[in-house]
Amino acid sequence: MAVIPVNIAGAPYDVRIEAGLLAAAGEHCRPFIRGGKVAVVTDERVAAAWRETVAGSLLAAGIASEWLVLPAGETTKSWQHLARTCEWLLEHGVERKDSVVALGGGVIGDLTGFAASMVKRGCGFIQMPTTLLAQVDSSVGGKTAINTAAGKNLVGAFHQPVLVLADPLALDTLPPRETRAGYAEVVKYGLIDDAEFFAWCEANGSALLAGDAAAREHAIAKSVAAKARIVAADEKETLGLRALLNLGHTFGHALEAETGFSDRLLHGEGVALGMVLAARYSVRRGLMNGQDAERVAAHIAAAGMPASIRALGMDADGSRLTAHMLHDKKMDAGTLPFLLMRGIGETFLAKDVDLADVAAFLDAELARP
Ligand code: NAD
Ligand code: GLY
Repeated sequence: MAVIPVNIAGAPYDVRIEAGLLAAAGEHCRPFIRGGKVAVVTDERVAAAWRETVAGSLLAAGIASEWLVLPAGETTKSWQHLARTCEWLLEHGVERKDSVVALGGGVIGDLTGFAASMVKRGCGFIQMPTTLLAQVDSSVGGKTAINTAAGKNLVGAFHQPVLVLADPLALDTLPPRETRAGYAEVVKYGLIDDAEFFAWCEANGSALLAGDAAAREHAIAKSVAAKARIVAADEKETLGLRALLNLGHTFGHALEAETGFSDRLLHGEGVALGMVLAARYSVRRGLMNGQDAERVAAHIAAAGMPASIRALGMDADGSRLTAHMLHDKKMDAGTLPFLLMRGIGETFLAKDVDLADVAAFLDAELARP
């Protein structure tokens, strides 16, 4: 089993990674659960695949579980379901020293974590991430949120879990498209500051996506270790370090907004294409060589994700896409910091990006054959 410590000052915890952890959840959770019962929040698809396994394992460890099963999908990260989750946790007598469980992808983790940050002014929570995206990114680092009319993730809190159990076997029931989308976040860690890991992805990505157990576990452990290092150094994203985790997100978010945050483009697919665009824009700025940028594009395409905006078939031009960027929550005094690259594994935060130039770049990308 890989155990990655997340050394957040005052709230350290471990991420445990091993095939079969959901079936052994009871013994791992036991030290964090008081009074022989626990509240579990999940969604209907995850419940269909994993509730029996997790509830059985908890029971075998002497822990009875109560379940709140929410609808699957991004729209569950809402005021309505947040209120429902808080009320449900209170009805079940959750106290401040209790830990509630989030079993699911980033939607369930973000919603449950936010509810846990508020119930009794903050109770414990355990993340059991069941998507690749949640295992390598959203379950670690304590960002929790819901979506509102004004945009995605605009209301939330930093609230760290007490334990994260990442079971690669959970991915056996995940639709392949969701696994590919989560893989974008794995590739991201290579591009941020680990060229060797990017090369590992090029060599092993297809095995990982085909379900190879060793490749999955290695990728999750490397990704979590990278994220743990960054969030331990900059928990609240005040030092410019945690911002590196947003590589590909500014372009990706604009594309997600333009496609209506729908199945046309999953979040991870937007990040994948966003990383390709960040690389190509870095070439335009004379920062990165074209060969490296096309290496990024080739790997994203080989992993079965979109590597060109034209392929999305959108009816939008560059200025319409950059208009979405103005609503980005990273906007700082009228300027938008951008993650650019000097090479593979050499991402940095640029504060001198002119959105009109980005719009011209996107027009050129839209015309690219
Ligand atoms: P998700 O939670 O919606 O899960 C994707 C789909 O897979 C859902 O339909 C879900 O029901 C299903 N599913 C999940 N696990 C399954 C399994 N093992 N078997 C079968 N079906 C399964 O999506 P996601 O990609 O995990 O998360 C996206 C969310 O994460 C977004 O809301 C995003 O904002 C958030 N996010 C948060 C952070 C953070 O740091 N907190 C980081 C990245 C993304
Ligand atoms: N996923 C970005 C972050 O956790 O900061």
